This record gives sequence, structure tokens and C-alpha cells, in this order.
Amino acid sequence: MSELNKIALQILSKGMGILAADESNATMTKRLESVNVHSNETNRLKFREALFSSISMKECIGGVILYDETIKQKTSSGKTIPELIKLNGSLIGIKVDTGAKVLAGSKEEKITEGLDGLRERLKEYYNLGARFTKWRGVYCISDKYPSKLSISANAHALARYAALVQDAGMVPIIEPEVLMDGDHSAEVCLNKTSEVIKRCYEELELNKVNLKGTLLKPNMILPGTKSKKKISSEEVAELTLECLKNSVPSEVPGIAFLSGGQSELEATANLNQINIKNKTNFIMTYSYGRALQQSALKFWSKDIKNIIGTQEVFDHRAKMCTLAAQGKWSTNLENPE
Ligand code: G3H
Repeated sequence: MSELNKIALQILSKGMGILAADESNATMTKRLESVNVHSNETNRLKFREALFSSISMKECIGGVILYDETIKQKTSSGKTIPELIKLNGSLIGIKVDTGAKVLAGSKEEKITEGLDGLRERLKEYYNLGARFTKWRGVYCISDKYPSKLSISANAHALARYAALVQDAGMVPIIEPEVLMDGDHSAEVCLNKTSEVIKRCYEELELNKVNLKGTLLKPNMILPGTKSKKKISSEEVAELTLECLKNSVPSEVPGIAFLSGGQSELEATANLNQINIKNKTNFIMTYSYGRALQQSALKFWSKDIKNIIGTQEVFDHRAKMCTLAAQGKWSTNLENPE
């Protein structure tokens, strides 16, 4: 087994998942302001330090994705954030793209940037303790989108990124996110997501990326947020599995879904059904941002000194997600008497 394959499996083994705490400062500011907390370096650190010191880090969270600011921060006890995460038994990941910009040639779409200087930044992150990385390509759905240009340009960037990351001794997470915005049906989401993912693997193959040392972070197959036709978790699971079975090469060891704007409960229930119905060899788990942190953030914002209470809320969510990653979750576990 190669070292990269070992890292990938270590992150996702036994129902473990990923905490995506890699919000850029701009995104984290939006999240903090939504609960009336001022966004500054100290507050961003305080909230994240509470999560990274929680019990579920050992029991549920196999890896944490950090943002550039966080990987260089020190905790209140003087340890660095990577030291704290390692101590709690989890692997360190880092977001290495520099964000989605307007795609010249199709200005309503986005292209993710960050390849310039990436080789050097990867060395720095490796030395800071990172063993896996994330790059997010983003696609929207409408009659004409995602365009061939956006599908091809983002796949190319994802593959160039992945090859550089493996050269630097880390596992790349490939994240092609097809957004939930729109009134499209789940079938349209299935077709467009399948096209996007297949194209990514064509480029990854061309760039000689060792798929056993990668992870995929896709969206689930869902109807658009403005679609009138809602579907059940069972249907989400069937369509999501159909998509992944037909578009992901079997060498890929694991798939860790993003939550993409689903509520905590939806993201948990859907992941649970996916695992109940999963007949593939892929590990199917979570790499959630909002669906792991939302309730904890709300709780913390009411009293930012209440670290224990915040950790209890986070631990509960992480435990529910880890049960869902094994198909063992049920609604009545959410509110035990
Ligand atoms: O890139 C997106 C994050 O890593 C996942 O965030 O679960 O809130 O969509 P999300």
C-alpha cells in the first residue's frame, strides 16, 4: 500500500469523516456576522480552537481542513493549531486554492485559481504538518451551464493541482461542487454532476495522478433549492450512488461529501441512506463545513466563553454524522431523553 493510500484510508476509516473548517476569512466573516459575532483573528481562532479540542476529534473526525490563517495560528496554551489537531488524533488538511474567480470566456461562471506558486506553498504546508489538501471547483446549473468551457477548465486545474500535491507527498481532495441553486430537477443534477466528475477523471488520468492516493469530495444529487419537486433521502441516495458508480474509477478509496447548504439533519439523513444502500467498494463519508458547525456556532455565539457547551453541541453533530457514515443513524438518536 502506498503512503498516500494509507493517509487517504486513515482519514476515512471506521466511519470517520472530515471537518471542513477551511472557510476563507471572507466566508468566515459572513458566518460569524450571521450570528452577530465580530469577525477578527482572535474570534475565528477561539471558535475553531473549541472544535479542535473536542472529544469527537478522537472519535469521529479523521481529518480537519484548515485555511491558511488557521494553520499558522497558536492556541491559548501556546501549542500551534496543527499540534493541537495531531494531539487529538486527527490529520491536518489545508485548502490550497485561492478562490473562484470570473471565468473569462463565460463570465457568469467561475474558474478556481491558485496554481501559480502552488509548488512552493505546498512545501510550506507540508512543513507545517499538512498531509492532505483541498481544491474546490464550482459549477452552476441552468439550461446552458455548466458550459463545456467551465467543465474543461476546472477539470484541468483540479488535475494540475492534484499532480503537484502528490509530488509534495500529500493526498489531494478533488472537490468539484455542482451548486444547489436553481429550479432544476434531481435528474438534471445527476446528468450535469456525472459529466463534471467524468471530465475530472479524464484530466486526472492525463496528469498521471495516482487515484489510490486521492479522495473525491462531491455534492450529493439533489433537486435545485427552488425546485417544487422535493425528493426523499432514499431517492437522493439512489441517484447519488448511480452517479458515483458510473463516473468514479474503482481505484479511488473514498468519497467524502460536502453539505453544500443542506441543513444538518438533511445532510445526515442523506448520508445515512447512501451508506445503507451502498453496494460499491467506496467508503462514503462526510467532509462537512456548515452541516457540522452550524448549531455549534449558534450556541457559541450566545456566550463565547462557554467552550464546554459548544463542544457538546459539536460532539453530538459529529457523532450523528459518523453514525450516518456507517448507515447506523436514525432520527430518534437526535433528541435522546
Ligand atoms: O468547500 C466547501 C467546504 O469544504 C464544505 O462546506 O459542507 O458547508 O458545503 P459545506
